[in-house]
This record gives sequence, structure tokens and C-alpha cells, in this order.
Amino acid sequence: MKQDIFTGTAALSKLSEISRQAFSSVFVLCDENTLAHCYPRLKEFLPAHQTLIIKAGEEHKTLATCEGIWQQLTLHLGGRNSLLINAGGGVICDMGGFAAGCYKRGIPFINVPTTLLAMVDAAVGGKTGIDFAGYKNQIGLFCNASAVFVDTGFLKTLPDREIVSGFAEVIKHYLIAGKNEFQKLLNLKLPVRTYIDDAVIAKNIAIKQDITETDPLEKGPRKALNFGHTTGHAVESYFLQNPDKKLLHGEAVAIGMISESYISYATGGISTNELNEICEVIFHYFKLPVIPGNAVNDILKLMLQDKKNISGKTNFTLLNGIGNYNIDKSVEENVIIESVKYYNSMLA
Ligand SMILES: NC(=O)c1ccc[n+]([C@@H]2O[C@H](COP(=O)([O-])OP(=O)(O)OC[C@H]3O[C@@H](n4cnc5c(N)ncnc54)[C@H](O)[C@@H]3O)[C@@H](O)[C@H]2O)c1
Repeated sequence: MKQDIFTGTAALSKLSEISRQAFSSVFVLCDENTLAHCYPRLKEFLPAHQTLIIKAGEEHKTLATCEGIWQQLTLHLGGRNSLLINAGGGVICDMGGFAAGCYKRGIPFINVPTTLLAMVDAAVGGKTGIDFAGYKNQIGLFCNASAVFVDTGFLKTLPDREIVSGFAEVIKHYLIAGKNEFQKLLNLKLPVRTYIDDAVIAKNIAIKQDITETDPLEKGPRKALNFGHTTGHAVESYFLQNPDKKLLHGEAVAIGMISESYISYATGGISTNELNEICEVIFHYFKLPVIPGNAVNDILKLMLQDKKNISGKTNFTLLNGIGNYNIDKSVEENVIIESVKYYNSMLA
């Protein structure tokens, strides 16, 4: 089913119209930062509502936080015909969508993404969920938002590190399905805030939607969107276990894209020149940490929980030239280890 997505200056007026339809009550889910920076502007466009506030950050994308959301919905008599508006980044969209999808067996929800990452990726396509037992997105549902409203005005207050983090998913989209856009990025290397506009956001949403509409439940082509995420999620989970070394989702995906581009190269999918171009773009935008040598075994173990695995084998989405991909590629452990060494060598 095509998801209704509204972008541009009229998006919030459209939200105003839709949220005033016959819902029995309206709830707005924010984290502490989106409450401070985004809610004051957003509330002007909303009918009477109750706010639900959670702590910010990936470490709170948990069952315990979800339970708090369900408690608040229950306390305020949320019913089957209540609407939940998720106002925040990927954490709010993922967790709010999951909470709405389960509450009373499912209530309607709307995403109002406020980070670049959520605008170009997380708010769209119906994947919702939470982290569990140290693994990313271990529990979740495929469950589409009724509509998504993207207003880039929210990005003004987003810290620069978060803007760059979101740019990882833009680079990913171009690597799997935007050869020309990747070439332009390589040639110009514009600062992210200069580069991002409504047209770029719309292009990225279109790349994601084209893929997710063909394969909403990720049986095949949707796995393309996981490029960079097999290593990326394992690295992100590893860093989450060490909260003093904070790594953002997009930064983990950037590391994952270097590792998986190396694997693509080592297995004949891309040339040395293409591998060098990908590294040039990623290292231009990202400041990334070394992966400690003793982390590699933990990362390999974390990969065993990857949702793309079949019969216990770690499966990757790899590049087949820039702008094209192959899914379900099983890779020897020594090549995965080499890819992490290659990544570290690029930082030396
Ligand atoms: N469902 C999907 O398809 C999908 C796709 C990609 C990523 N994700 C998930 O998205 C999450 C990452 O999302 P994220 O990077 O948006 O992180 P996030 O939601 O944690 O937001 C990043 C930080 O920015 C703050 N923030 C948000 N909007 C702000 C604004 N306008 N001004 C100031 N501060 C603001 C937040 O409070 C938070 O501290 C991960 O959990 C990842 O797994 C999901």
C-alpha cells in the first residue's frame, strides 16, 4: 500500500487537517529534546491532545519505555480510535510505531520526523520496533504509519553531529540505487546542511518507497536497504554495551558501509576505484572511531542475530557496482575480519 507522505512547506498544514479528522483523542509522543525544540512549533498545527514524553536516545528504545507509553495511553483512556503522533527521530518513530501497533491490537499513528535520518529513512516504510537483550530492533512489527509529514524546518535545531549521522542513510540510498547522485556527491562534497533540501529529501523517500512497496515484508529486494547494516548494527550494539563511547546509528552505518564495500570489493562486486570513491565520500563527512582489535569476536557474535541470516549463516547485502546490489550473500568469516581491519587501516 502506498504510504501518504507530505513534504515541503505545506506539510504541517496538511497534518493539521488530517489530525482534526474524527479521532476520539490525540496523543503526541516526544522525547525530551523534541519536546523542547520541535513541539512548540508543532502544537500550533494540532487539535487538543495529550503529550507523552520519554527520555531521548537509543538506550531508551526499550520494552520498559514502551511499557511507560502503554501505561500513559491507558491512563488517559486511549482507545482504538485514538491517534498517536510520533514527533521525533528514528527512535521515536520506531518505538512509537511499535507501541501504537500493539496497543489494543493497533491504533492509527502518524510520523512527524524531526531528524534527517528519520526524514529520509526511519519514518517511511513501516518497520517499527525496539532493541532487546542487547540486539538492535530485536522485537518489532511491520506496521505502516497512516501518513508521514516532513518539514525540514525542524532540522534547524538538530545538532551537526546528528545531521551528519542521518546523511549515512542518504549515502546508502545512492550506493544501492542512485549512481548519478553518488557521482555528484563525490564531485561536489557540499556540506550536508547546504546539500539537503526538499528535493533531496523527496528523492531519498522515493528511493526507499520504490523498494519497500515492491517488498513490504523484506522477503527479497527490501534487503537492499540493509546495505551497511549487517556490520553497522553489530558495531552499534557493541558500542551500546560501552555507553562511555557513544556512537550514533548513522555513524555505525557509515562504518558498516566501509566494511561491506570492502567485502563487495573482495568478492568481485566493485572495483578498487569504486571502493576508494566510497571511502573518500564517507571519510569526507564522518569522523569515525577505531574498532578495538578485541571487539572483532564480539561483533561477529552480534552478527549471528542479524535478521537477514538464513540457517545460522551471516548474510550480507553487497554492492554490484555503485547504484546496484546483490542480496543474501553469505561471506566467509575471514573476509568479514579483513573488512574490519581494512576499515581500521583507513583511519591510520
Ligand atoms: N524503521 C526504519 O526503517 C529505520 C531506518 C533507519 C534507522 N532506524 C532507527 O532510527 C534510530 C536512529 O534515529 P535518529 O538518528 O533520528 O536518532 P534519535 O531519534 O535518537 O534522534 C537523535 C537525537 O536528536 C534529538 N532530536 C531529534 N530531533 C531534533 C531536533 N529537531 N532538534 C534537536 N534535537 C533533536 C533526539 O532527541 C536525539 O537525542 C535507530 O534506532 C535506528 O535503528 C529505523
